[in-house]
Amino acid sequence: MNFAILTSGGDAPGMNAAIRAFVRRGIALGHQVWGIPRGFDGLVHGNPVPLNAASVANILMTGGTILRTSRFPDFTHQTVQEQALERLRAHAVDGLAVMGGNGSLAGAGQLSRQGFPIVAIPASIDNDMPGTDYCLGFDTAMNNIVGSVDKIRDTASAHERIFVVEVMGNRSGHLAIAAGLACGAEAIIIPERPTDYGHIASQLQATFARGKKHSFIIVAEGAGDARSTAGALARLTGHEAKWVVLGHIQRGGPPTAQDRLMAALLASKAVELLDQGQHGRMVALRDGSITDLSFEEVAHGTVPTPINWLSLAEILAR
Ligand code: F6P
Repeated sequence: MNFAILTSGGDAPGMNAAIRAFVRRGIALGHQVWGIPRGFDGLVHGNPVPLNAASVANILMTGGTILRTSRFPDFTHQTVQEQALERLRAHAVDGLAVMGGNGSLAGAGQLSRQGFPIVAIPASIDNDMPGTDYCLGFDTAMNNIVGSVDKIRDTASAHERIFVVEVMGNRSGHLAIAAGLACGAEAIIIPERPTDYGHIASQLQATFARGKKHSFIIVAEGAGDARSTAGALARLTGHEAKWVVLGHIQRGGPPTAQDRLMAALLASKAVELLDQGQHGRMVALRDGSITDLSFEEVAHGTVPTPINWLSLAEILAR
């Protein structure tokens, strides 16, 4: 059969390792695999390219996506989805894997409801997809943040400063919480919970009173910007506060071993599902096992943001 794969939405480190696994596992099962460049936009306006074992050589360790990606809001329109289905049928594609975050999953669901065989592979540094404990890219992004904060810590200590570090996460604070806990932040500000600046300021004052030479606040972009957070905390504490926005540095660079491993397991499972004629399903990590669940079950699943780690981070930073 002909199976195709596309990457959509924000790229996530590990996408290339997943493309490689999908292609090579698909070939091993006796299928021809195609890549659709530029996500759903490419599905409507572009052409699939044949992929073989050699075309995915030496990409395991690279960030980004060789298929490139796009955000394509027009895909919510029924007429555009029909165009996509026509293109898939014209190219004799028998099954499609969509790799991306929540927006991509919504697009996959729309095509699936119209009867096309689709599977989804969760990939988002935000780790905010319901139904799976892990989305590709999260571990690499977390390592990128921790590595950057380790560097900032040197200069923060030298100047005895507060540093506000803004990380990605528009609607989700999972990345901020996990990275904040991993780098010993004094406070973590997330979109899911209102911020008590007075409480953070008194924590920071107590921290400096205990003789600590620096303080870190991690703020998820959806919860406020680093600059105004630093301004507010400087006013409330009377202490110098600097700010930094890590931005897309978080999404780049080689995927960690964890992301490469997850990519191999999740993408192989995705092509195995298509091979078995199962579709309308997302592959997932749940309770330590690779599994799959229907798009319907995903829609009713919970997002694994560990809100209770916020108070733990506060205790451990003392
Ligand atoms: O969804 C993943 C993500 O990295 C979010 O954390 C962030 O808000 C968004 O993508 C940024 O998207 P873009 O690269 O299109 O600006």
